[in-house]
Amino acid sequence: RGCKLVGCGSAVPSLQISNDDLSQIVDTSDEWISVRTGIRNRRILSGVFSFAVHMVYDAAAGKDSLTELAVEAAKKALQMAEVNPDDVDLVLLCTSTPEDLFGSAPQIQKALGCKNNPLAYDITAACSGFVLGLVSAACYIRGGGFKNVLVIGADALSRYVDWTDRGSCILFGDAAGAVLVQACDTEEDGLFSFDLHSDGEGQRHLKATMKQNDKDHELGTNGSLLGVLPKGSSYSCIQMNGKEVFRFAARVVPQSIELALEKAGLTRSSIDWLLLHQANQRIIDAVATRLELPSERVISNLANYGNTSAASIPLALDEAVRSGKVQSGHTIATAGFGAGLTWGSAILRW
Ligand code: ACO
Repeated sequence: RGCKLVGCGSAVPSLQISNDDLSQIVDTSDEWISVRTGIRNRRILSGVFSFAVHMVYDAAAGKDSLTELAVEAAKKALQMAEVNPDDVDLVLLCTSTPEDLFGSAPQIQKALGCKNNPLAYDITAACSGFVLGLVSAACYIRGGGFKNVLVIGADALSRYVDWTDRGSCILFGDAAGAVLVQACDTEEDGLFSFDLHSDGEGQRHLKATMKQNDKDHELGTNGSLLGVLPKGSSYSCIQMNGKEVFRFAARVVPQSIELALEKAGLTRSSIDWLLLHQANQRIIDAVATRLELPSERVISNLANYGNTSAASIPLALDEAVRSGKVQSGHTIATAGFGAGLTWGSAILRW
């Protein structure tokens, strides 16, 4: 049994924040950001503004729910695939920023109107999430008899950005992207191979951990400790060592793609498109150079959206498919990398 990608969709918030807008919040400039990262704009969910972003925009406009974005992207993927929501038997939401700690995927399943109660759950693996979701979908289809699996990558890292840290707040945007992976005959198989890894040792370079001291102590009248009342735990803002993350990505991503190509019995020349997690144009360029792929075969849209974490690959894929760049039968080398640290690649046919 094989599996293939039969539809894609994406959605972004309407509110756009440019590099010039950010330079009103932190000491930075359009030139610094675009030269170092390739990013010029990002979209941000309106309802998640911190006070800093309010300094730029008084009136919040547009969507304020990540779940709504994910539903919109999923609906478009189902439309393109011409698959009825009732025929979906698994919804995988790849996100590190769910709107329910217990998982947001069932809310998406409900909003899509999937009446047969398909399994729906979240996968948390930061910017590698979508590749892991794709591989999970393939495993469910090949081994578990599943037929139509929705894989959604959606993140709102703006909720966890420290808007006073110019080294990280310039990078991120919010978005959702989705693909429909469908069972097919083996000869039509569209997921040739994959290669997945993680390294908890590297967590110190990129993390947003739970706050440890977020508790109120209830004291008795004589000062004795009566109990500890949890205040409502929360997570710290993204803490990142940009240089280390850059070095890590430029080192592991080409290795991983080479391994996946080898497993598929393919060579670099088989790649029609290199579609990496959109973190930084310099990372994308460094990987393309290592793989000796010309820029004409590299998909990049991060100038408009910044790093949208688990959404970046399906968002860029959707734009490339709808613009006619990626066509049926094209081979795509894709790779996600990021917090965890996690990384992974997959060789696909569209
Ligand atoms: N504007 C102006 N100056 C800045 C800015 C800014 N936005 N940010 C940092 N600087 C300054 C620093 O303070 C430093 O100044 P100094 O020399 O006076 O001390 C100087 O610029 C150089 O800073 P570096 O941090 O060394 O800059 P670098 O060239 O490494 O670029 C960047 C920083 C863009 C963050 C880069 O390291 C990068 O993109 N790394 C990859 C990060 C990434 O992709 N993370 C996401 C991973 S995916 C996930 O899972 C979330």
